Order: sequence, then C-alpha cells, then structure tokens
Amino acid sequence: MSGLVVVGSQWGDEGKGKMTDYLTKQADMVVRYQGGNNAGHTVIIGENTYKLHLIPSGIFDQEKLAIIGNGVVVNPKALLEEIAYLKERNISTDNLRISDRAHIIMPYHIELDRLKEERRGETKIGTTIKGIGPCYIDKVERSGIRMCDFYTPEIFEEKLRANIQSKNDVIVHVYGGNPLDEEAVVKEYMDYMEQIKKYIMETSIIIDRAAKEGKKILFEGAQGTFLDIDYGTYPFVTSSHPISSGVAIGAGVSPFALQKVVGIVKAYTTRVGKGPFPTELHDDLGEELREKGHEYGVTTGRARRCGWLDLVMMAYSHRVNGFTSFALTKLDTLSGFKTLKICVAYERNGEILDNFPASLEHLAECRPVYTELPGWTEEEMAGVDTYEALPENARKYVEKIEELTGVPIDIVSVGPKRTETIIRKNVF
Ligand code: GDP
Ligand code: IMO
Ligand code: MG
Repeated sequence: MSGLVVVGSQWGDEGKGKMTDYLTKQADMVVRYQGGNNAGHTVIIGENTYKLHLIPSGIFDQEKLAIIGNGVVVNPKALLEEIAYLKERNISTDNLRISDRAHIIMPYHIELDRLKEERRGETKIGTTIKGIGPCYIDKVERSGIRMCDFYTPEIFEEKLRANIQSKNDVIVHVYGGNPLDEEAVVKEYMDYMEQIKKYIMETSIIIDRAAKEGKKILFEGAQGTFLDIDYGTYPFVTSSHPISSGVAIGAGVSPFALQKVVGIVKAYTTRVGKGPFPTELHDDLGEELREKGHEYGVTTGRARRCGWLDLVMMAYSHRVNGFTSFALTKLDTLSGFKTLKICVAYERNGEILDNFPASLEHLAECRPVYTELPGWTEEEMAGVDTYEALPENARKYVEKIEELTGVPIDIVSVGPKRTETIIRKNVF
C-alpha cells in the first residue's frame, strides 16, 4: 500500500481541497481524518466551483470511496445539507462512508461554542461557531455520542436526552442562555440519523483491506499545522490534530501506512481568527494580497489576515509533519509585486531565533528577519503550464524555499483550476 497525506502546513486554507481533488485521480480511496464542518475546501472542476466542509474532496471521483474517519466530528444536519448540495449538482454520494466511531456534533455543542466565545470577550479564539471544540471536549470527557450509538436507536435517544439535560443546565445556569427544546432536538436528530445510517460502518476495516490489496490511499487533512491542538499557536487553534500523525488515530491505520506527506504551502501566509502572526501585513500590501488572492473564508466569509511567507514556520511544520514534498499554491497571486519578502528567522530581544516558540508571549515579541527577492509581472505568469515556462524570478522564489527548507517543491499551483497545476515530480 501507499499512503499519502495532504497536510496544511500553515494556518489552513492553503489549497488542500484543490490538491486533494487533483491527487484523487492517482488514489483508490480518500479519507478525512480530523476536524469537521469548520473546514471549507474549494474544488473547481471545469466551470463548476464546489465548496465542501465535511465530505472529502475526493467525492467527485465516483468510482472511489470517500471516507469520513473516526477522528472527524460530524454534524448530521450539515452533512445532509452537503449531500443535498452535491445532489443538486448531480454529484452522487453513493461512494461516501462514515466511521461508526466518529463523534456527533449536536445543537448544544454549537450553542456552547457561541456562549463560550461570547464569554471570552476580548480573549475570544474566533472559532467558526460550528461546535467543534465542545464536541471534542465531550469525546475526551467520555460523554460524547458516536455514530455507532445509532445501531441501537433507543440507546442513542437515551444518551441524547441525558446530554441535552446536562448541557441545558450549563447553558442556563452558567451562561444565562436559553435551554434547548429536548423533544424537538430528539425528534430532529433521530430523523437525521435515520437518513445517514446507510453510510455508517467500521471504516478502518475498509481502509485496512485496501491497504492489504496494495491500494493507494489519500488522507485529506483539514485546517493546518499551526491550528493543531498540540503544535499550533495554542489556544488560538482548533481542537484536533491536522498534522500527519493525526492520520493514524483519526483514520485507524498504522503509522507505517504513511509513506508520503505532502505539505500544502500557500506562497504567502494567511490566517482567519485571532492569535499572533509574525509576518502579518497591516498595510496596503496586505490588502493587495487579500484582494488578489480572494482571501475570504469559505466557511464564515471572514476576511483572512495576510502576510509574507514564513520559513521559520515551514521549518517547524516540516519537523512535526515529516514532509516528503511541498505543493506550493497561489504562486500566481504574487504576480505584480515588485519585491517579495520571505521570513528566514525571527529577532527577539536582540537575539536571532530560528525556531517557532511555544509561548505566544514570546511569539508576539518576534520580529521577522526577511530576505528579499525580485518579483515578476502578471503578463509573465499568464497561461504558464510548465515549470520551465515560469518567469525566472518565480522559479528563483520556488528554489529559494527549497534551498532554505530542504523540502522539494514537487507541485506548483498557479491558479485554482485543475489545469493550473505544474507537476515537477510524481508525489504518490
Ligand atoms: P483549503 O481550505 O486548504 O482547501 O483552501 P480554501 O479552499 O479554503 O482556500 C483556497 C482558495 O484558493 C480557494 O478559493 C481555491 O480555489 C484557491 N486556489 C487554490 N490553489 C490556487 C492557486 O494556485 N492559485 C489561485 N489563484 N487560487 C488557488
Ligand atoms: P480549512 O480546512 C482556516 C480556525 C478558526 C479559529 C480556530 C478555531 O478550510 O483550512 P474552530 O471552529 O475550529 O474551533 O476554530 O481555527 N479554523 C480555520 N482556519 N481554515 C480552516 O479550515 C479552519 N478551521 C478552523 O478560524 O481561528
Ligand atoms: Mg479552507
């Protein structure tokens, strides 16, 4: 078997959806291993743009299974809406499978996400308010409800009622919110589960069988390394493990099943939500990047914060993920900038650092040290479909990143479409 992981190397929105869709043609199966509908993955096929939140970006290749692994938290309502969204566009979801160990996002998770953020006030995380954190809290606290609970609907209902009652206590007495209507939620969610039960199964067996048959399995990450609960900019992170080692737990495979790890790197840096961001641009250049790159969130529509590429982050990301290649995306967005900057180190209190610090207080004191490279024009980049045809300065930009990180950039993406992808070396 050959297992390849697509991992966001920055703060999410690097173009994982596009790259997963692209690489699916070489795979036999695609598996999401963490996160939930906080993700927003864009796939463009021909004239059609699809925005997916929960369903793997490999769903469009209907011959191949698209699996939602146990590490994902699934909102059944959002899932049914996404299935309907695809159906309206003539995309079948017959190839979808959901792990019976996946935890379920319930309305009280969303309400608690909202109330907790409101209570945090100025120190809020800036979550997507999709109930992600509260659902993972219940998983770890051992009070969560899993897909397999619906194998025995009476048990599912019993657990749901007990949870609604205890969460209503918290909603009302801790946060002064309005209680959820137990009967209405039970009726609604029993009905949703009835509709999705045909997709539920022990998915790790399917993946294992495929592995033993020598099949190629693509694991699709959501979010990014710096949103990882352990390795990200805690507490401004999500509640799961987007990094490559999240695959073993979130899909139910051996760590030895992973041969290749492709880090998706945006040619600059963006971030949604709160938290320090050393190379952030607060000036016109940041605005220009946002407008040229259409940097607005797929899930919440929020403007993404923009800044230069940060190789201190990349070195750290490589250390915790073990990248075998990079796919560099949105290189075209940098066209037209006269000079480009790449952060190669941080300066903190007169000292040069080359490691990304754990302490956010230290990180906030870090000033980027830049190296500058000359840019290229939009005309030079237009219609380019081979590496050799890229503007010379664009190639220099690519090669500088390779030189400083030691990771080969095997894929260069120069536009959102499938055809705007330059393969320098096969990554699977
Ligand atoms: P994901 O969350 O990592 O899947 O990324 P998003 O879909 O949230 O954001 C990436 C955006 O950039 C989407 O609108 C993509 O269509 C777009 N995109 C991906 N690759 C490229 C590229 O190489 N060039 C340009 N201009 N856009 C790209
Ligand atoms: P994709 O897969 C970018 C961010 C939120 C917030 C933090 C915690 O499209 O790259 P959460 O709702 O997960 O508790 O929010 O994480 N965040 C993302 N940022 N891309 C994403 O997904 C994200 N998913 C969550 O903005 O800062
Ligand atoms: Mg996204």
